Amino acid sequence: MIKKKGMAMTICMMMLLTSCDDGRLYENQMIHPEEGRIVKLTGNISGIDEWTNGYSVVVAGFTNESEYAIISKSVTTDNDGQTEVVLSGINDEVERVELCVTNRLRKRILTFQAVGLNAPDTIRMEVGTINLGVYASIQEQLFNTTCTSCHGASTFAGAGLYLTEEKSYDALVGEPSQLINGMLLVNPGDAGTSVLYQTIATDISSTWKQDHSNMVMSTAMHDIVRTWINNIAND
Ligand code: HEC
Repeated sequence: MIKKKGMAMTICMMMLLTSCDDGRLYENQMIHPEEGRIVKLTGNISGIDEWTNGYSVVVAGFTNESEYAIISKSVTTDNDGQTEVVLSGINDEVERVELCVTNRLRKRILTFQAVGLNAPDTIRMEVGTINLGVYASIQEQLFNTTCTSCHGASTFAGAGLYLTEEKSYDALVGEPSQLINGMLLVNPGDAGTSVLYQTIATDISSTWKQDHSNMVMSTAMHDIVRTWINNIAND
């Protein structure tokens, strides 16, 4: 039985990265503790703990140009899976707020939901019940968008491989490749020897009937798939 690796704690780097003042001294030391706008996100979110290795699920503010968060706050859930995150002190620079995954550098890796910031004060994001786990994200943001058209969503499944929801995990993990003798599609714990990872991140498919080499240009997605495979317990 293969199961996902046990929970690992996500290290919260936010503490180190909260905004600092500009160092100038004002004559009348004006203090604005609640300056800026507020975004309040509520929902029933699962899968957050699956993000480790410097990735974290956050509510974060961005300009429209940059992929790096100006301000962000980790998303946590209580025992019932209920989430409430209040991101306050959002300054004028911030143009959009996203529920997303960022890396150690606070660079946006995946976006789940986004809102523009036109309103002057509190903005509510009600996200409902969602699974933001690593595999659920790969399914939604990679397989469903780029792969299922040829792998099971129609009458056709290339190499007999179904990458549709419900079927993809069992079709991949520990299953032999049809095209590369002796290799597994997903070799638990080892992305390097997994045909799935090689298919999206290398030119292994250049001699196949369908070249996949340039289908997934996002190196962030390569990293997520690699991390997911490397974290599957091999037991
Ligand atoms: C345009 C159609 C098409 C798309 C889109 C596509 N594939 Fe494929 N895929 C194929 C075909 C056809 C084959 C079989 C090639 C052959 O037989 O030489 C294949 C084979 C594969 C294999 C090898 C299976 C094995 O058993 O060795 C993997 C892995 C794979 N695809 C993954 C993906 C992933 C992941 C995506 C999305 C990023 C994707 N494919 C998108 C058509 C497609």
